[in-house]
Amino acid sequence: MYKIPLSDQGDAIPTFRMKICCIGAGYVGGPTMAMIAHKCVDHTVTVVDINQARIDAWNSDKLPVFEPGLDEIVSGARGKNLFFSTDVDTAIREAEIIFLSVNTPTKTYGVGAGRAADLRYIEKCARKIAEVAEDDKIVVEKSTLPVRTAESVKRILESNSNGRQFQILSNPEFLAEGTAMEDLEAPDRVLIGGDQTPEGKAAIQKLVDVYATWVPRERVITTNLWSSELSKLTANAFLAQRISSINAISALCEATEANVDEVAHAIGTDSRIGPKFLKASVGFGGSCFQKDILNLVYLCEHFGLPEVAAYWNSVIAMNDYQKHRFSHRVISAMFNTVSDKKIAVLGFAFKKDTNDTRESAAIYICKDLLEEQANLAIYDPKVEVAQIQRDLGIDADNEYVSYCQDPYEATKGAHAILILTEWDEFKTLDFQKIYEQMQLPAFLFDGRNLLDLEALREIGFEASGIGKG
Ligand code: NAD
Ligand code: UGA
Repeated sequence: MYKIPLSDQGDAIPTFRMKICCIGAGYVGGPTMAMIAHKCVDHTVTVVDINQARIDAWNSDKLPVFEPGLDEIVSGARGKNLFFSTDVDTAIREAEIIFLSVNTPTKTYGVGAGRAADLRYIEKCARKIAEVAEDDKIVVEKSTLPVRTAESVKRILESNSNGRQFQILSNPEFLAEGTAMEDLEAPDRVLIGGDQTPEGKAAIQKLVDVYATWVPRERVITTNLWSSELSKLTANAFLAQRISSINAISALCEATEANVDEVAHAIGTDSRIGPKFLKASVGFGGSCFQKDILNLVYLCEHFGLPEVAAYWNSVIAMNDYQKHRFSHRVISAMFNTVSDKKIAVLGFAFKKDTNDTRESAAIYICKDLLEEQANLAIYDPKVEVAQIQRDLGIDADNEYVSYCQDPYEATKGAHAILILTEWDEFKTLDFQKIYEQMQLPAFLFDGRNLLDLEALREIGFEASGIGKG
């Protein structure tokens, strides 16, 4: 690992104009490129996608991704040095740096199904660049990829090079949804991996210069390609492992009358452990933790390390357990049947401040309860009804599920409330009013440990949280 010495880079960043292209206008491509355009006014950034509807949305007033602060950044740069387009070929041809920010979902077919990353979109991008590029390019892996993917990308490009030089860099993204703009503006670090050849180092330097426009240089870490690729999977595995660890302890807390929030606080004050990512929950969701750990598991098996694979797989197993454990607790507390009972589901997104529902714990819990023939009244401030229907695999006229405009409508006549996303607005609801319009006993299951259970019990609720007796 080497860090570019500050002295080599000079104090001021030279002004240079560059065309940057990003293939993939999703949760990462859109916000990341918007931030680069916002910070680097001399560069022109074009984000391309094959999905016309998504590009149209990026060019409209209703962006396809909800992130606090994103609208302002996009509207400030769009049409000036930030463009969204479906003209992939032109954007590739004109760009000096091409980011690959396409999806890398878990493979659902063939060898490695259910675990390996599906790299077909990345490969298509590499082939497209090989087909249309007319001069040298720096190709940057922004998507999360299995370690050594850059080798395949390089081989595809080099086999079709016709004299053009391609440098491949790995620059994984660490933003979290809901705080993407803060994370991009002030990242803990930016990681750039590349070949340790003179050409590779020159390409690294070019990308360092882009970020150094606003990120302090000591926060830009440079490594070889494989360390960078593997660091991204490892970071997500460590973060998810902390959640599974505290969720495992939450089950023990429920059996012993310990309180998981108190345990988390007590251990989190140890500076070696630290306080972050110790919030017990209904289980982690999101598009990446599960897929990236499954990918890590697959890689470990591929490299003949079954014990290491089993270790990381247990993080996923614990998360699955936690989601179903919550559903079972709800059913068992409600006299072992939820059939024909109205259950208000507050929150469907996988975390607050996002409209993303990928792998949301709410999906699994709702499915468990629908299997038990519950009637669900779902409210989420940002998730579209059509998305909920896709996630639950139901038609618009499904008689067991209704969609509500606000939490008061959802809880009217309900037997129970489930808090499945920690939206701030749930903290300030008028629970007295809600209690008065519910069936009794009025159950409340706080899957996010968001609410004051004692205050709810004083109102009359049968209230329980995660990891609390
Ligand atoms: P996404 O599904 O929101 O967006 C990917 C986009 O790529 C889609 O709009 C799709 O149409 C487009 N695409 C696919 N193939 C294409 C092609 N050949 N040409 C043009 N466009 C194409 O995905 P995302 O959430 O933005 O994630 C992208 C990558 O970033 C993944 O590898 C993910 O693991 C990683 N990542 C995601 C997050 C996150 O918070 N979502 C954070 C860090 C890293
Ligand atoms: C996560 C990582 O935090 C990012 O660094 C990474 O870039 C990203 O994955 C990715 O690669 O996609 P994200 O999934 O957007 O970001 O959101 P997180 O804040 O990590 O939350 C993930 C899930 O864990 C959510 O369901 C959240 O509610 C849950 N969580 C988080 C807990 O249950 N407890 C916690 O203490 C923290």
